[in-house]
Amino acid sequence: MVAVIVSARDLGRSFDASAPLIQRLLTRAPRLTVRAVDGVSFDVTEGTTFAIVGESGCGKSTVTRLVAGLDTPTDGEVQRLGRMGQPLRTQMVFQDPVGSLNPRWRVGRSIAEPMPLSMDAAARFARVSELLETVGLVAADVAKFPHEFSGGQRQRIAIARALAAEADLLLLDEPTSALDVSVQAQVLNLLKDLQERLGLTYLFISHNLAVVRFMADRLAIMYLGRLVEEGPAERLFQAPAHPYTRQLLDTVPDVANPRRNREPLAIDIPSPLNLPPGCTFHPRCPLATDLCRRVVPELRSRPDGTRIACHAVTDEVVS
Ligand SMILES: Nc1ncnc2c1ncn2[C@@H]1O[C@H](COP(=O)(O)OP(=O)(O)OP(=O)(O)O)[C@@H](O)[C@H]1O
Ligand SMILES: [Mg+2]
Repeated sequence: MVAVIVSARDLGRSFDASAPLIQRLLTRAPRLTVRAVDGVSFDVTEGTTFAIVGESGCGKSTVTRLVAGLDTPTDGEVQRLGRMGQPLRTQMVFQDPVGSLNPRWRVGRSIAEPMPLSMDAAARFARVSELLETVGLVAADVAKFPHEFSGGQRQRIAIARALAAEADLLLLDEPTSALDVSVQAQVLNLLKDLQERLGLTYLFISHNLAVVRFMADRLAIMYLGRLVEEGPAERLFQAPAHPYTRQLLDTVPDVANPRRNREPLAIDIPSPLNLPPGCTFHPRCPLATDLCRRVVPELRSRPDGTRIACHAVTDEVVS
């Protein structure tokens, strides 16, 4: 049975980005609002990886924080549907594991911290040893401090900690982008392996499309706070339809043909403080028409199981 455990509905989050009040009064500057996330809807299915990609500042981390319940939406909602009526448990794994591990705690203590209070000391110790081995470390590492590990090992510890919490959903925000390429591959393989063995569910954030292609079951492409295309990852990689997805996927290194000429993106990304009217992608879009400059395209379903927000792409599916 396919169980949806997270359902985002028309999710929005605005931030006040105004200058301090006194400065605004003196310079008569208006209040400024950043629309970090706007009208975002998606479902995350148990046991799968839902990935979100997009350029820096497009709202990926804000969506993650809203799903984690660390932040409150200004519009819409996130339904968090735990197993058998239980509340959904989430755990975050960040890019920089140094920030999420207390440098003064031995790693055993950090891993044990999210364990249920009902567990006694012996059970905790046994579980910590088991988790260290699960993530490819050794039980003796329990007594070491974070600085005694490499970046990749520290990320394994952060993953062990997330497993200790018995989370229903792991929120992985650029979990490997600070690591060397070979270490990155090891950690990604570990995450895949754990997902298969333990049936884990991931919300995976990255701007690295090669990484996303390896990890994702479903993929959402975000541009300036909105989803522009969403669907089964393989389908999007095979037949990207949105002009932005096409440009983005074109920047994935092509192993077979590294010298292929690529069109550089014509202009810079607009400021989220001053979004263009209509489709926010229109200034960069080769297909933009007058309609695109005036009307925001809705995210609509297509016959091939994907969703797209684009006036220029028709629903005829090319296979
Ligand atoms: N607490 C905040 N206050 C004001 N603006 C914010 C806040 N958090 C995020 N923003 C703004 O919201 C937008 C989205 O930010 P977010 O961190 O979600 O992007 P991101 O896609 O995760 O980027 P990156 O790839 O760089 O991590 C940005 O314009 C950012 O400046
Ligand atoms: Mg981010």
